[in-house]
Amino acid sequence: MSKSTVVVTRQLPQAAIEPILERCNARYWDSEEPIVRSTLLEWVEGADGLYCLLTETVDDELLDAAGPSLRVVATMSVGYDHVDVAALRKREILLGNTPGVLTETTAELALALLLATARRLPEGTHAVQSGTWPSWRPMWLTGRDIHGSTVGLVGLGRIGAAFARMLGGFGCRILYTGPREKPEAAREVGATFAPIDTLLQESDYVAVHCPLNDQTRSLFSGEAFRKMKPTAVFINTSRGGVVDQEALYDALVQGEIAAAGLDVTDPEPLPADHPLVSLDNCVILPHIGSATIATRTKMAVMTTENLLAGVEGRPLPNSVDLS
Ligand code: DGY
Repeated sequence: MSKSTVVVTRQLPQAAIEPILERCNARYWDSEEPIVRSTLLEWVEGADGLYCLLTETVDDELLDAAGPSLRVVATMSVGYDHVDVAALRKREILLGNTPGVLTETTAELALALLLATARRLPEGTHAVQSGTWPSWRPMWLTGRDIHGSTVGLVGLGRIGAAFARMLGGFGCRILYTGPREKPEAAREVGATFAPIDTLLQESDYVAVHCPLNDQTRSLFSGEAFRKMKPTAVFINTSRGGVVDQEALYDALVQGEIAAAGLDVTDPEPLPADHPLVSLDNCVILPHIGSATIATRTKMAVMTTENLLAGVEGRPLPNSVDLS
């Protein structure tokens, strides 16, 4: 049987790349840096499968460059807003992603970010490192309690639910919102459905766990921030595009909300001279929600399994419903 041709757009852990090199003719971008777009457009021509990351835009241009041989796109991410789903559907190309394996890890990061933002941890470490740690003062670096607070989740999918479960230990009241109620998941984690306006008005912490799509793009606008409490903390570990960042900056500077913790921004990387970076009340992490050795390895291997299944004509272990 002749080997399939696949493109792999980034250096991968051994466990993920070995089976591909064994079973396929691989055009392997063996580098930590993203593949150059023009190279990707050349390499994808005539390929049967594409292994990509969230840094690659999969659109008509790329799919046209690939031509009719392309059967599967496997992305090493659970989110697939970088993929034009309609363009895949039109060509009957399968899409594989990595749900499940990063749920707890990403929820842990959301919790870490919430704690870091509420308790002002980066300001504290900066004071120690810069030699500006004064003697103990009653009100210096005072933050906000998590216990007893109301936490509003925008999205009660896998990650939102895991985050809610973790918050169980803090005795929080948990609200959630989304396109529809999820009574079973909500019961399991002790969350109560609320329309988004109620959630924004009543929450001490608002945490975003929804995918980026046409309904959620710039959902957090100036209007949304103005509905929140002036003491509220905003946490986003989903996608930067969910937030109007200029509006967030204004809300933080004008005291419409107290603080924000972001693991995702638009663009990524966020330039160091971006106005949000200058704010003490904005904690920004470099999109590391799923970044543990175990989880990233599982994601990489799962993507390999999706890719190989697709090029070998088997059902993908994890496929996105494109209908
Ligand atoms: C994803 O998988 O979509 C995350 O953003 C990266 O782990």
